[in-house]
Amino acid sequence: MADSLTVTDNRTGESYEVPITDGTVRAADLGKIRVDDDTPGLAVYDPGFVNTASCRSAVTFIDGEKGILEYRGYPIEQLAEHSTFLEVAYLLIHGELPTREQYAAWEHEITFHTFVHENVKGFMEGFRYDAHPMGILMASVGALSTFYPESRNISDPENRHMQIVRMIAKMPTLGAWAFRNAQGKPYVYPDNDLSYTENFLAMLFKMSERKFEADPRLVKALDVLFILHADHEQNCSTNAVRSVGSSQVDPYSAVAAGVAALYGPLHGGANESVLRMLRRIGTKDNIPAFIEGVKNGDEKLMGFGHRVYKNYDPRAKIIKKACDDVFEVTGVNPLLEIAQELEKIALEDEYFVSRKLYPNVDFYSGLIYEALQFPPEMFTVLFAIGRTPGWLAQWLELVQDKEQKIARPKQIYTGGRGLDFTPREQRWA
Ligand SMILES: CC(C)(COP(=O)(O)OP(=O)(O)OC[C@H]1O[C@@H](n2cnc3c(N)ncnc32)[C@H](O)[C@@H]1OP(=O)(O)O)[C@@H](O)C(=O)NCCC(=O)NCCS
Repeated sequence: MADSLTVTDNRTGESYEVPITDGTVRAADLGKIRVDDDTPGLAVYDPGFVNTASCRSAVTFIDGEKGILEYRGYPIEQLAEHSTFLEVAYLLIHGELPTREQYAAWEHEITFHTFVHENVKGFMEGFRYDAHPMGILMASVGALSTFYPESRNISDPENRHMQIVRMIAKMPTLGAWAFRNAQGKPYVYPDNDLSYTENFLAMLFKMSERKFEADPRLVKALDVLFILHADHEQNCSTNAVRSVGSSQVDPYSAVAAGVAALYGPLHGGANESVLRMLRRIGTKDNIPAFIEGVKNGDEKLMGFGHRVYKNYDPRAKIIKKACDDVFEVTGVNPLLEIAQELEKIALEDEYFVSRKLYPNVDFYSGLIYEALQFPPEMFTVLFAIGRTPGWLAQWLELVQDKEQKIARPKQIYTGGRGLDFTPREQRWA
């Protein structure tokens, strides 16, 4: 059996053999199929890249049919249970788990780069009192490129490493300060005695106490949520980072593009919609009527279904477990009961079963975030902090990949051609 595709162009009767590698054909090979020398070669039309591979990647593996997610080959379940976010960040960036010495050095590096230049604080304070924290985060990350102009030297491995450390270290500082800005509270400086996630909680919630102490169960739950969000292969924001990064701009600007993409409701905002939906349903008695409405096409069951997962999203399973730990500390969120009942009914209902609609990562995450006292505008900021190592691992892969080029899709032009321009005086006469 040959690993190739034989295509006959019925316009010309000409046959072509196109090699198949890794289950793909090269779009450039299809470009050789042409009617004559004057017309462009055959192209593929794929809005939203539904069936187009844009890169080779060794960062994250997903099998949506089976519900498998692995970072660098390690199952997400094992990482969530036994690892820490910082170790997962190391794994994503370096491709391997750290030795004891490597981990100590990594933790030290990240911890000692959490401070930002005082001028960053100055311009963050310039945002309006009601500025969305995600808008502040996006602008601030992009602005870091001006504080580290050497970051544009992306061909130097040491320089790249420095910026990666800085970004992973500073995202929680920027995210927490964006939050404090909305609250009108003074910014809290990083505390280098605390772990990554504990320090983030301190910068968010510390008031006049000498030392901020968070319940370890809450710290662990948030750390797990960061791990679950750390990468998800070629999603919209990662594609944005890669696309902008392909111009060889500095990594702060590329990551700012990722934050921008995540800001959109189709990407980072579904857990907020889940909370709104649960609140609207209000009591368990209203669930059957709500489900009927969904089946009639009146609305969607938010937090269900996924473009890639046609099985239980493995992240949703882990979050469901984390809910128990968090609610043990904070008291149960009454919406949890509704969510659980909704899930039970949906998983037994023919409509959802036949369409392979299962809970996704957003079904339970909003409940936890709310229990941790985060307002909905902060949900995407938390996602961005968690996703930063993934964006950077993908960016690193991009800049070292000899096959990559500046991202520049083709189009199918649908406008007019060769029109004669009439000057205003004549058109308006
Ligand atoms: C995530 C999502 C956008 C994936 O969309 P997609 O891959 O394009 O899937 P489709 O829209 O083609 O859905 C296939 C079928 O399932 C239905 N469906 C998908 N998600 C549904 C949901 N959450 N509730 C009810 N029906 C749903 C669609 O109506 C469609 O039904 P049809 O075949 O009768 O027309 C979609 O499932 C969704 O909107 N979910 C709710 C929002 C959400 O939780 N997003 C977070 C994702 S992490």
